[in-house]
Amino acid sequence: MTNATKPFDALMDITARPQTVFVRGEGSYLWDDGGRRYLDFIQGWAVNCLGHSPPVLARALADQAKNLITPSPAYYNDKALVLAKALVDKSCFDQVFFANSGAEANEGAIKLARKYGALHKDGAHEIITLEGGFHGRTLATMSASGKKAFEPLFEPKVSGFPKAQLNDLASVERLINDRTVGVMLEPIQGEAGVWPATDRFLRELTTAHGVLLILDEIQTGFSRTGKLFHYEHAGITPDIMTLGKGIGGGVPLAALLSTQAASCFEHGDQGGTFCGNPLMCAAGLAVLLHVSAPAFLKSVTDTGLYLEGELQRLSVRHGLGEVRGRGLLLALDLKMPIAASVVGQAFEQGVLLNAPKPDTLRFMPALNVAREEVALMIDCLDGVLTRMGAARRVA
Ligand SMILES: Cc1ncc(COP(=O)(O)O)c(C=O)c1O
Repeated sequence: MTNATKPFDALMDITARPQTVFVRGEGSYLWDDGGRRYLDFIQGWAVNCLGHSPPVLARALADQAKNLITPSPAYYNDKALVLAKALVDKSCFDQVFFANSGAEANEGAIKLARKYGALHKDGAHEIITLEGGFHGRTLATMSASGKKAFEPLFEPKVSGFPKAQLNDLASVERLINDRTVGVMLEPIQGEAGVWPATDRFLRELTTAHGVLLILDEIQTGFSRTGKLFHYEHAGITPDIMTLGKGIGGGVPLAALLSTQAASCFEHGDQGGTFCGNPLMCAAGLAVLLHVSAPAFLKSVTDTGLYLEGELQRLSVRHGLGEVRGRGLLLALDLKMPIAASVVGQAFEQGVLLNAPKPDTLRFMPALNVAREEVALMIDCLDGVLTRMGAARRVA
């Protein structure tokens, strides 16, 4: 027996969505069930780093599905071992725990830091996080987030996450005390509207005060900003890092990475039924081989600079604000609360854009997006902004 009368009603209504149903994706494009094509600059929320359904990922999944899907987390499997070793070899970290979502990886990072505090810092457990930060939607990661809209929700929150300000070392220092075990932040605050931490701020945090530096690279990692991991831009070695989104190229895979010194879980502290299953790890391996190639990283930087330049040109032409971000995680400040309307009109034109704030557009295309596709998106945005400007002048 069901009360759901229309197909949409059978899903919990957790966000406003257009009643369009997507059925196919390829590269930078999605198709709906009516055969209409959309140019996608959201890409699963900065997830599909090689675009929709890349053959290399489809092949890796199909091959692995024929061999072994889940032997149980009580046993090792070949793909988890190879992917963990590859991540360790390509980073400053020594050990990896695989998870299924960014929030779960961050939850693991919080637990690892608290365990470290219990073992080595006399029970210190507070983790300083930042206003505007976003770390996920589990209870602890919502509590760690500095998102205003979360504040009244699901009380009481998990305690132990005092909030400092981005790029303000003094605001971090004011919060450090005997209870502090770490500082956790995104190198670029994505959900808040693409606000980068300066390389200097990141460097200052590593040298400051003997607390663990926990970087949430769920949005910035896996080559999104032109380096495999964003921390490389600042030339630092964090203690703990989390990855999600791009690591699976579109499938649910995430990871918690730690230096030897901070890697202190004991048996029973951490786990999960699907954590490190070979199907997802095979996907992660296929993605990693592609996105870590020097030529690929260079193309992300080059295309990012091209997109940035084109957005700056639009900004000047339409009297808008700054372009922020790095690589292929960029935002355009519209200086007016018109972002939802721009997104709606672009959707009508068959272009998918994201508005993290009422006055901000965010661009997170596939990392292999073609320049012609960037140019098509820019043309569409130019047209939308021109029509809106004309409409404002008439009004
Ligand atoms: C920086 C950051 N951390 C954590 C998360 C949560 O990841 P997930 O949605 O996979 O749980 C997100 C998702 O947008 C994110 O951008």
